[in-house]
Amino acid sequence: MKIVVLDPNGELRDVSAAFHRALGTTDTVSTVTSAHALSTYVGRQSPELVVVELAGDDAQDSGWLVLKRLRARYERLPILGVGVEDGFSPAIDAIRGGATGYIARIPPLDDRVSLFLAHFHGLRRLVHEAELLEEEAERFHRAEDERYRIVGESPQMREVRRLVERVARIPRPVLVLGERGTGKELVARAIHRTASNSDSLGPFVAVNCAALPDTLLESELFGHEKGAFTGAAHTRSGKFEQASNGTLFLDEIGHMSLAFQQKILRVVEYKRFTRVGGQEEIEVRTRIVAATNANLDERLRKGQFLHDLYDRLAFEVIRVPPLREREGEIETLAQYFLDQFMREVPAFAGKRLSQRAVNLLYGYSFPGNVRELKNIIERAVYRDTTNELTPEDIGILTDHRFQATSGTFKQRVAAFERQLLVDTLRTKNSNRAAAARSLGLRYHQLRHLVAKHNLDEDL
Ligand SMILES: Nc1ncnc2c1ncn2[C@@H]1O[C@H](COP(=O)(O)OP(=O)(O)O)[C@@H](O)[C@H]1O
Ligand SMILES: [Mg+2]
Repeated sequence: MKIVVLDPNGELRDVSAAFHRALGTTDTVSTVTSAHALSTYVGRQSPELVVVELAGDDAQDSGWLVLKRLRARYERLPILGVGVEDGFSPAIDAIRGGATGYIARIPPLDDRVSLFLAHFHGLRRLVHEAELLEEEAERFHRAEDERYRIVGESPQMREVRRLVERVARIPRPVLVLGERGTGKELVARAIHRTASNSDSLGPFVAVNCAALPDTLLESELFGHEKGAFTGAAHTRSGKFEQASNGTLFLDEIGHMSLAFQQKILRVVEYKRFTRVGGQEEIEVRTRIVAATNANLDERLRKGQFLHDLYDRLAFEVIRVPPLREREGEIETLAQYFLDQFMREVPAFAGKRLSQRAVNLLYGYSFPGNVRELKNIIERAVYRDTTNELTPEDIGILTDHRFQATSGTFKQRVAAFERQLLVDTLRTKNSNRAAAARSLGLRYHQLRHLVAKHNLDEDL
């Protein structure tokens, strides 16, 4: 340990000597004789403890002034004040003035110094641990931020991020729409993270509404009282309660039964619910983010989705576009997932994407969107042996949505033709001239094909 004592006229010689005796041989106790020398010493040597005399006056070069200046400059530097009086009130004065501790330089000096050092070591350990924890938390937050970063600079994704920022601090439901794998859950988490930076501190809780039948979903969401049904041995809280002051992510709400939609509507509307088999009304303070890949317009029209629930959930609607419609993002995301995977598995470090692989990806429609791209990249990294990801590493990309796996040769070729048209028109935002150009067809040829496959209504 390195200690420096400010001792202009030798009055602290006994104190220095006591520190020498209390410390081990590897520790150093230096003495400086002016405030200027002390300031230089602190700047260059980074001592772990500074000792200054706090006499009654506050003349120019007095310890009080030195203490004030040091404290202003080094927020956490330990500074011990030394005075001539023992007792509570000089100690309080010293600590108010910014000192870390206080001792009187009167006998038994060795005992006073040892006692101070014991406290000091304990304190240092605590401070050190607190700093480690702070660093840890900081690292964790950075990792979380990185994990839930919405990547993409297309105008559509900028808009998505803008809406996330805007709605995050408003305690109202958000509806996230988009095909599977477009990043709906990521958007929900981004809303939660942005909001919890300021006030809400509860957790993010996700429920897949399509995965459970009504009765199970009800107890999953609202919890149940002991004995509510066979097997309910204990009272259990539901996801609404678990997400208290946080965010409840209701995934795949598009296919909930109408009866269940009613139940959700009641909670969203009155912010209260009862556990299954319970009487007591429980208040909900949870932000709801709902998501679906279903065509809600159609379901609303057909009476399969409640208008009232839609109106409630759609305080803000965030539409996450399919990957094939986002200008330039396939390459950005492919690179992002490649970097991420290389960081996760250091053995894969140093790999890069070949231009041919990027071209191959741009020719694909990604029915599984970003999730599918991520899987394709990770699998290619895993297969690759040359440090360059080639089309061979990526393999054959097939769109399973319309793939004709049976039928005659003619039927299957027709299915492929149709698929090719759909994909091209989608990537070109239904712009037929652009689609024709990219397929090397004349405009009237494309129009003919669109009519032949009845694509007018689809696109
Ligand atoms: N814009 C994006 N930037 C980075 N990762 C993304 C992005 N969109 C999706 N992902 C990743 O793709 C995967 C699927 O996203 P997810 O939010 O689960 O999609 P969805 O809920 O729409 O099916 C996740 O691993 C997610 O982190
Ligand atoms: Mg999902």
